Amino acid sequence: MIKKEPYPDAKILIVDDEATSVRLLKKILNDAGYMNLYTVRDPDKVQSIYQSIQPDLLVLDLHMPHMEGFKIMDQLRTLGQDDYLPILVISQERNRVIQFSALEAGAKDFLVKPYDSIEVLLRIRNFLEVRMLHKQIREQNKLLEQRVRERTEELYQTQIDVIQRLSRAVEYRDSETGTHTMRMAQYCYSMSLALEMTPEECELISTASALHDVGKIGIPDRILQKPGKLTPEEWEIMKTHTTIGSELLAGSNSKFLKLGQEIALTHHEKWDGSGYPRGLKKDKIPLAGRICGLCDVFDALTSKRPYKEPWPVDEALKEIKAQAGRHFDPELVEEFFKIMPQIRRIHGQYGDA
Ligand SMILES: [Fe+2]
Ligand SMILES: [Fe+2]
Repeated sequence: MIKKEPYPDAKILIVDDEATSVRLLKKILNDAGYMNLYTVRDPDKVQSIYQSIQPDLLVLDLHMPHMEGFKIMDQLRTLGQDDYLPILVISQERNRVIQFSALEAGAKDFLVKPYDSIEVLLRIRNFLEVRMLHKQIREQNKLLEQRVRERTEELYQTQIDVIQRLSRAVEYRDSETGTHTMRMAQYCYSMSLALEMTPEECELISTASALHDVGKIGIPDRILQKPGKLTPEEWEIMKTHTTIGSELLAGSNSKFLKLGQEIALTHHEKWDGSGYPRGLKKDKIPLAGRICGLCDVFDALTSKRPYKEPWPVDEALKEIKAQAGRHFDPELVEEFFKIMPQIRRIHGQYGDA
């Protein structure tokens, strides 16, 4: 007798309308040690049983009333649960053309009745070997895909984490607080959403906005922390936080850092060209820089700073409106006013404003 079957746990579904052939095949398989045998005699029930059992092998009789084996194969293929149809056809059919069509229709092997019990077991064993390897590869691929997804997510989160820590490093030296950065991120998100950017773009701009003042790392304490007004020379040095930030972030492949660089360099440009460092005008100023510039000013006006009390929101809004077409892109100002409920909600969320 042949050696012990290697896959006794394999789920085998037998589809045949003849009770005697079902009994015979079950006996052969049982004797060989197969434990998970299922039978269906009504062809109409194959689809639902196939779906619930997810067999490793389906032994199919080709000619049955109501529905022929071919139709069953067609049905199972369209279920699309598995790209591999684990079907072994057993039939009295001796016509070679029909046998070939069965193989073409998705059957993996064909056995002619009456069959030899040793042959049927050997064919099933070979069949299951291929089937199990196929399953194994599929599982491994799934695992790999899952790992790649996890690693991508991890890298994404790490970038956000590093950006947030970098911006906190600046906050340690600057008079501005962490809540400024948090509100900026939310204002920028709401503005981008109002401008019909995709959620990914909104996320990108709101995260990168945390880097707008990262260049302050290179500004001396005597200027950055000076309680009084800056002299013109000091002010010139202060302005270089834009170019320092840009140099600091330049050359990265990270989309966050790339956008962060653009924002660091352009958040003090003004619509009428009177901003710094390059005096860019209108839409020569990148959109992200225009958005962050507006949100930055609004938050600076409405926040308490060591040298000033917070302005009431309505006063700040008046100022923003007055600066439409001068400091700010007039269309962005319009959008900003459209999302006023969100802006007020974000403003009210933090206690130190
Ligand atoms: Fe700045
Ligand atoms: Fe700022």
